[in-house]
Order: sequence, then structure tokens, then C-alpha cells
Amino acid sequence: MSEAELHHALTWAQIGLAVLTAGALLLFRAPYGRHYRKGWGPSVPAWLGWVIMESPAVLLFVAIYLRGDHALQLVPLLLLGLWQLHYVHRTFVYPFRQRSPRPMPLVIALAGVVFNSLNAYINARWISHLGDYSIAWLADPRPWIGGAVFATGYAINKRADRMLLALRRPGEGGYAIPRGWLYEWVSCPNYLGEIVEWVGWAIATWSLPGLAFALYTAANVGPRALANHRWYREQFDDYPRRRRALIPFVL
Ligand SMILES: NC(=O)c1ccc[n+]([C@@H]2O[C@H](COP(=O)([O-])OP(=O)(O)OC[C@H]3O[C@@H](n4cnc5c(N)ncnc54)[C@H](OP(=O)(O)O)[C@@H]3O)[C@@H](O)[C@H]2O)c1
Repeated sequence: MSEAELHHALTWAQIGLAVLTAGALLLFRAPYGRHYRKGWGPSVPAWLGWVIMESPAVLLFVAIYLRGDHALQLVPLLLLGLWQLHYVHRTFVYPFRQRSPRPMPLVIALAGVVFNSLNAYINARWISHLGDYSIAWLADPRPWIGGAVFATGYAINKRADRMLLALRRPGEGGYAIPRGWLYEWVSCPNYLGEIVEWVGWAIATWSLPGLAFALYTAANVGPRALANHRWYREQFDDYPRRRRALIPFVL
């Protein structure tokens, strides 16, 4: 089997994994954050779990990227920049800003390591070696539209996360109803932004690897948005009735 065939098979495996993940997460809630519960083995502080879980998306991604034949070409470098813009923040900034007193089961962090390693290989290897992104790709509207969609998702995700983190003062660990901006419409605009970002990536790369990651993101955070929304309604009698879970007016 050639590397291109192996890569193609792994990309389809990731799409299969997205279907399984969505099915599983519609049945049970991943036990971290507000859905944390005991019985999942040893745990680590949440910040450490995030750093462990997301590190392959930064470090392994760069290592694989640099081995590619097209690693020094402009368009692959721009795509690398988009990817790292998100993941350097998620791995090395976000964990130190969130103040979760709840630990993260190690099994969740390790599952994240496995997924992020697979995803790093599939996407990094594609943009710097197996795909073909010459300078001519910049004359096509897709990288520009995809880049704009990515930037929109990024801005939504970051602002929504910042608003949640601002709900707690140092030392606090409880929950409040988030209010204002997109929170008037949905319970989880951070997840909405995350999905929009990776749809942007799929458009900018116009690739099966990009599509696989966008599908996986929706499969992962979509069911969690439904679970969080149900949780808010159970916790707060005055939770706004018109607010939906993930997509304004729809879901
Ligand atoms: N690409 C992917 O597949 C993927 C998967 C998962 C997450 N993510 C991204 O990672 C980020 C964090 O995800 P998450 O699942 O941890 O998000 P989350 O459940 O919304 O929590 C985000 C942070 O805000 C706190 N928080 C949430 N709701 C709060 C409230 N009502 N009052 C006070 N504090 C509140 C949480 O504390 P607690 O931890 O104590 O609940 C946590 O520190 C998001 O941007 C998400 O899009 C991406």
C-alpha cells in the first residue's frame, strides 16, 4: 500500500470515527467540565488535561508538516499559519485562562491525544506533501472564502469562550447563565464558532482531510451542545426559553 493510499484510508477512518463519536456522545456525556463524574479512572487538573490533549495538534502537526516536500511553499505555509493560530492558543493559552476546579479523567485526555495525532497526520501531511497547493491556488476563490469563514468562526469561538471565562472570579467554580451577544440565541456559541472554523478550513483546503475534520468537530461538539443545553435548562428555572442549543432558531 502506498502512503497516499494509507492516508486516504485513514481519512475515511476518521469520517467513520465521526459517525461513531456522534452516536456515542448522543447516548452519554463525555465526563469533563460540567459533566464531570467519578468512575473514569485517574484524573489530572483540567488545565493539564487540555495541554496534554491538544499538544499533538501543535507539535506533531509541525513535525509532520516540516517533513513534507512542499513545506517551504507559500500556500502550505499560510495554511500552517491558520491551523497554528487556533491550536497554539487552544493548547498553550486557553488552558491557563480557564479556571475549572473540576479535574479531567486521564482517559479523556489520552483519547484526545490519539484523535489529535491522527488528525495532525491527516491534515499536516496533506497540506505539505500529498496535496498540491501551488501559488496558483491563491487565484481561486476557495482559499479566500475558506479563510474568511475560518476567521469568522475563530472570532466567534474566542469571544464566546472569553465571555464564559469572565463569568467566574478567581477562586469561584460555579455556573451562571451567560447573557448577551450570541448567547441570547444559543447556549454554546463557542461550539458553533469551532464548527464554523473547521468548515472554513475544509473550504480553504478543499480536501477530504479538511472535510473529515469539520465532520468530526461537528460530531464531537454538536451532541455536547445538546447536552449542555439540557443541563442549563435543568439547572436554571429562569433559563431563557427561546435560546437554542447550537444553531439560532434551528437546533
Ligand atoms: N474541535 C473539537 O472537537 C473540540 C472539542 C471540545 C472542545 N473544543 C473547544 O474547546 C473549548 C472549551 O470546550 P469545553 O467543552 O470545555 O467548553 P465549555 O463547557 O463551554 O466550558 C468552557 C469553560 O468555561 C467554563 N464555563 C462554561 N459554562 C460556564 C458557565 N455557565 N458559567 C461559568 N463558567 C462556565 C467551563 O468551566 P468547567 O470546565 O468547570 O465546566 C470551562 O472552563 C471550546 O472553545 C470548544 O469549542 C473543541
